[in-house]
Amino acid sequence: MPRLLQPARTTGFAMALRFAHCSDIHLLNLDGVRPWQFLNKRITGAVNLALKRRRAHNDALFDRIVEHAHEQNVDRLVITGDLTNLALASEFAHVAEKLEAAKLPITVIPGNHDAYTKGSARHGRFENYLGKFMDGDRLAGEQYPFVQRFDGVALVGVSTAVPTLPLYATGQVGPDQLARLAKILDDLEQEGLARIVLIHHPVIDGMAHARHDLLDLEAFGEVIARHGAELVLHGHEHRELVGVLPGPECEVPVHGVSSGTALSQRPGREGAFRIYEVEPGGLERETYLWRGEDFKKSDD
Ligand SMILES: [Fe+2]
Repeated sequence: MPRLLQPARTTGFAMALRFAHCSDIHLLNLDGVRPWQFLNKRITGAVNLALKRRRAHNDALFDRIVEHAHEQNVDRLVITGDLTNLALASEFAHVAEKLEAAKLPITVIPGNHDAYTKGSARHGRFENYLGKFMDGDRLAGEQYPFVQRFDGVALVGVSTAVPTLPLYATGQVGPDQLARLAKILDDLEQEGLARIVLIHHPVIDGMAHARHDLLDLEAFGEVIARHGAELVLHGHEHRELVGVLPGPECEVPVHGVSSGTALSQRPGREGAFRIYEVEPGGLERETYLWRGEDFKKSDD
């Protein structure tokens, strides 16, 4: 596997976790959907869906990611949000069925599409249908961030999913969750675990489009600058994005993956997933891009 360009502070940890990362799979299922459900913001999303998403994404690519994950013996599949389009119950039921059928340990966090309307967020639809893929420890009994501990590695699942105005796709972590995140990062460091933070929205200024951004990006960056992490993974922009955030000792790598089900062949926007290996001495990464018939390993 190619070495990462950005050194991560992982030397000295006794660890091994091999996982696949994908995002923004937007699995579609409109079974049983009634027209009245589209009278609010969903009408915008539904039109968008009809015009673009049906042509731009294909659920079969997610099936292929699962097959690759099995073939390549990953320990786990991590999906950083936007598993649905309109946060409908029928979509969540479909997603839950697909994830269970994958026969693979899976970790998920929500994206903005998974809290598409106030109703879906208020009813905790994402958590109700997909809670089993967010098992883990929590501070003060709050849902987010959740922590999943493995052999020397911890996944920290953050939520930025908040309902937004039509045509907005912003996200927010919120001060309470940020305070819990700070404490969690400190505790995990004390335990000697490599900390991998999962968040849907990009966390580096300028990487998200206007009206797509994380509203408290600066506050999130301050938590990382002060408390550190070994890696931050995100999705949301349907683009391959790689950067760093300042950490307390060294830079923290931040990797955004394109949509896992995108049929696009535009450079940087192809359907994609990555495989990470966290082991003593560092993090390693492979990127796989959709090439029309299958995902092929990229040279990045
Ligand atoms: Fe998103």
